[in-house]
Amino acid sequence: MTQQRPFILIAHRGVSAEAPENTLAAFDKALEQGFPHIELDVQLTRDGHVVVIHDTTLERTTNGSGPLAGHTLEALGRLDAGSWFSTTFRGEHIPTLAEVLRWYRGRAFLHLEMKSLEPELPVRVSELLREHGWYNVPRLQPGDPWAGPFILTSFDKAQLDRVRLLLPSAPLAWLVEEVTPSLVDTCVASGIAMLCPHARSVTREAVALSRERRLRVRTWGVATEEGLLNAYHAGAEGTTVNWPRRAREVLRGLEPGES
Ligand code: G3P
Ligand code: CA
Repeated sequence: MTQQRPFILIAHRGVSAEAPENTLAAFDKALEQGFPHIELDVQLTRDGHVVVIHDTTLERTTNGSGPLAGHTLEALGRLDAGSWFSTTFRGEHIPTLAEVLRWYRGRAFLHLEMKSLEPELPVRVSELLREHGWYNVPRLQPGDPWAGPFILTSFDKAQLDRVRLLLPSAPLAWLVEEVTPSLVDTCVASGIAMLCPHARSVTREAVALSRERRLRVRTWGVATEEGLLNAYHAGAEGTTVNWPRRAREVLRGLEPGES
């Protein structure tokens, strides 16, 4: 049985079902398992560095406490971001975006989510993408957001608008709950290349509406195999998922001809 069409499985916060989310261990696992598309969340430290972490507080995924934005990079660097998941990962740290850009350049396609709303975040992210050679790379298909090597994403359109001014040709993707005609219009007017609705809400009609306007669609929020299959059958081009290996097996199990 073979999958009928390409569907890109994006390791959500790395392979976060098998390693602590948003750590180098989770990102390395994605590459080891054959998933070069990696999603990660970025935010600012108190002293203006960009770090890779999802929550605005430290308790859930580190041995620290309190708000992330109340800590300096130096203080965050002392925290353990692996033991909460399993003792096997003791000593994993909160990566900086600079570290990720250095380590995975030429090896991964990053779906970089600007998690927080500070106007300073897109400024720092844009500087780092330029500084580390991720922005000024020749793209074989300049208009294609999947041409890589990164896409910048956010639930907050203002953050995407800021990036548009700073990195005029960077591919942008807007995370939304569901596709509506008005959101499609807004994307087209704002130069946003991709809409990312929730995997449960996406429909064939939503994908057709987006594609008519040359917008690409990938989903997020896959929690179950049903959600994965809904996104696939609706015609989305890919999704983030915490368990990409299992997702690959599910898709391989589809009958030939199923679309
Ligand atoms: O792919 C987008 C997805 O990561 C958004 O949700 O909360 O996991 O950042 P969240
Ligand atoms: Ca995210």
